[in-house]
Amino acid sequence: MLYRKLPRTDLEVSLIGLGTMTWGEQNSQEEAFEQMDYALEQGVTLFDTAEMYPVPSRAETYGRTESIIGAWLESRGNRDKIVLATKVAGPSVHAKHIREGQSRLNRNNIEVALDASLRRLRTDRIDLYQLHWPDRAVPLFGSRDYSPPGRDESVPIEETLEALEAIHDTGRVRYFGLSNETPWGAMRFLRLAEERGWPRMATIQNAYNLLNRTFDSGLSEVCHHEDLRLLAYSPLGFGTLSGKYLDGARPDGARITRWNRFSRYQGPNAEAAIADYVKIANEAGLEPAQMALAFVNGRSSVASNLIGATTMQQLRDNIASVDLQLPGEVRRRIDRVHSRYPNPCP
Ligand SMILES: NC(=O)c1ccc[n+]([C@@H]2O[C@H](COP(=O)([O-])OP(=O)(O)OC[C@H]3O[C@@H](n4cnc5c(N)ncnc54)[C@H](OP(=O)(O)O)[C@@H]3O)[C@@H](O)[C@H]2O)c1
Repeated sequence: MLYRKLPRTDLEVSLIGLGTMTWGEQNSQEEAFEQMDYALEQGVTLFDTAEMYPVPSRAETYGRTESIIGAWLESRGNRDKIVLATKVAGPSVHAKHIREGQSRLNRNNIEVALDASLRRLRTDRIDLYQLHWPDRAVPLFGSRDYSPPGRDESVPIEETLEALEAIHDTGRVRYFGLSNETPWGAMRFLRLAEERGWPRMATIQNAYNLLNRTFDSGLSEVCHHEDLRLLAYSPLGFGTLSGKYLDGARPDGARITRWNRFSRYQGPNAEAAIADYVKIANEAGLEPAQMALAFVNGRSSVASNLIGATTMQQLRDNIASVDLQLPGEVRRRIDRVHSRYPNPCP
């Protein structure tokens, strides 16, 4: 395994991070335990979860993934070997079951969410506490363009940062991160932290994969100059970059077969781009999924590539991508497809 130090922190994260959002829905607790045991054996130390998981998010399963991780941490007694990252949900019409639809990023909600996460995770501290998505109206989860809100009712970033400062002071959280954030949002959080001495964001967890490199147009510059690091999520575009859904195929039990409403990786040009990436991999003698993961691993802004797996075979293959260096010709061919179909799945 390779490791990346997060600038201005004493945290080091494994280049492959373990995504957890299938546990408690697609995967049982027993399967999750097997994944965690194996990942840790392979040197994967960053585990990423969220109060909201598993997905799809439902009232009946809310918090279940954290509970599974908590049970594992307790049974294995290895809390100190893990960099534990979780997230507080922001407001969403799709998450009416979280704090009765009022999950604004204000002090009270953050306190309540953190306490509940700590209880479920059976620990007294979170290494990286992330804001799952902004409190503001910004393009999210597949929407492309910003449209200014008529009336801005978002919780001011100042108020959120004050709340984070308060929980940091109690020792329950070591560092903080953003997620699904924009360049303006990231800069605003960093600027205010600098001016007022509030906690400084260490990471930004955004989607990053061959079908969505929007991070590279604005955020990568922010990350470079501001010592922020990317935790790349959905590196396989929900599994689509393996090629297994091409030509209308719907493999039994796979995420998009089970929940067709996950439409983010099915937009215009997605299929054509995926077919081209799969062709590049096949012609280079690579597994398409491995090529897609190795692409993410090789990007300089990426501190950790958050993989997801529903089987042990997928987990083994995905972790092994850390050993694959893409030849220059493969990278050039990838860039040509990217120019032809830029970011079909933002
Ligand atoms: N911050 C956020 O808003 C956000 C959003 C999404 C994810 N995340 C984080 O990122 C993690 C990973 O996200 P993700 O699960 O969407 O990642 P992904 O790599 O895009 O998709 C993973 C899924 O693809 C399929 N798959 C994995 N390896 C495969 C392989 N080698 N061949 C074929 N299919 C394969 C599996 O699903 P099937 O077996 O069902 O096909 C697996 O669950 C999450 O667990 C979470 O921690 C964060």
